[in-house]
Amino acid sequence: MASPLTAKESQSQTRTLHLDPLQDLNDALCSDHHQQQQEQQTFSYKSPLRCLTVRGPMVDNSELPFRMLCHKYRADAAYTSMLHSHIFTESEKYREQEFTTCMEVRPLFVQFCANDLEVLLDAGKRVETHCDYVDINLGCPQRIARRGNYGAFLMDNLPLIKSLVENLVQNLNVPVLCKVRIFPNLEDTIKYARMLEDVGCSLLAVHSRTRDEKDQKKVQANWEAIRAVKNALRIPVLANGNIRHMDDVCGCLEATGAGGVLSAESLLENPALFAGFQTAKWVAKNEESRKYGKLDQADLLVEYFKLCEQYPVPWRMIRAHVHNMLGDWFRIHPHIREDLNAQNILTFGFLYDIIDRLRELGAGVPLHLKDTNAETVSANRLFV
Ligand SMILES: Cc1cc2nc3c(=O)[nH]c(=O)nc-3n(C[C@H](O)[C@H](O)[C@H](O)COP(=O)(O)O)c2cc1C
Repeated sequence: MASPLTAKESQSQTRTLHLDPLQDLNDALCSDHHQQQQEQQTFSYKSPLRCLTVRGPMVDNSELPFRMLCHKYRADAAYTSMLHSHIFTESEKYREQEFTTCMEVRPLFVQFCANDLEVLLDAGKRVETHCDYVDINLGCPQRIARRGNYGAFLMDNLPLIKSLVENLVQNLNVPVLCKVRIFPNLEDTIKYARMLEDVGCSLLAVHSRTRDEKDQKKVQANWEAIRAVKNALRIPVLANGNIRHMDDVCGCLEATGAGGVLSAESLLENPALFAGFQTAKWVAKNEESRKYGKLDQADLLVEYFKLCEQYPVPWRMIRAHVHNMLGDWFRIHPHIREDLNAQNILTFGFLYDIIDRLRELGAGVPLHLKDTNAETVSANRLFV
């Protein structure tokens, strides 16, 4: 994946923020297929960065069409939703419903929650030929994870984490990635990260909040902790938390020295975040240089619908994406949201009609671009 940039774009880079681990990461993630695909693309956005941009895992929001959309708009890699290793090994139906992938949208990180060595390995073996990394969810802080004894609750049992990672590393043919939260104490976090590195974890995604800091909107991510972890390790680190637009990407990379960033919730509202687009709320009043990007969330949604027509997903996921992407639009015309809520059975006809009605009402809420050269983000990056 390496380089997410085309040769031409590489020449236009203004800064190189990263050191060797990123190159290693790039090499590790790069497949010839992906590189060829990147080179064929005519994406005119000039990224100021050479870093890995990753779409983070989100339960019920990481289905293939949405990953494809984010990939088109410059997420270099994407996670699946968290898959329950136990159910994954036992239920073919679960595997078919929850794990859909395609060659064009790679690299792919497949995330499992687990607390049993053999079960996790069995699950990993089933996906290793379809993905680029297998990830262990070590960060979920929700009650369901406490009950199931997985995610961030495994932080109370570091020997178990150690053997889960070790067993996977020794027996899988793809590298292992861990997505962790930090401990309240920095020393503990560093010891934890070193332990993961020592047992063979190849890439560490650090969500820089503690297990108790569940309210992401209220608690600022701790980028200093990420810097300390990054400095303590040889393996590449992905920084996660408070990445809401490209200025955050730059700020985070500079503050942490990480090899890449991972963003999750903000992409739900704006899947074109990594292509430099941002929603109006992040545009300061005095920033006249920000131009309309000739793209808005309704355009993105239409692209998403087309992908869903090709790669069907449950309607509940589509409904959630409509609410996430059109939230600002519905605030202007709440009766359209009410119509959507009243519609128990969705059809694509109904959804396209919602977009047409919003457009007729003149409810356009544009996305903005900082780089004026970036106005013509081409629609032909992928296959929509
Ligand atoms: C709706 C939603 C679902 C999530 N599901 C997962 C998950 O399955 N696995 C995981 O490791 N993190 C999950 N997360 C956490 C995110 O991947 C990410 O670590 C967190 O939201 C912080 O990043 P952000 O500030 O960019 O959103 C989820 C977050 C959200 C908002």
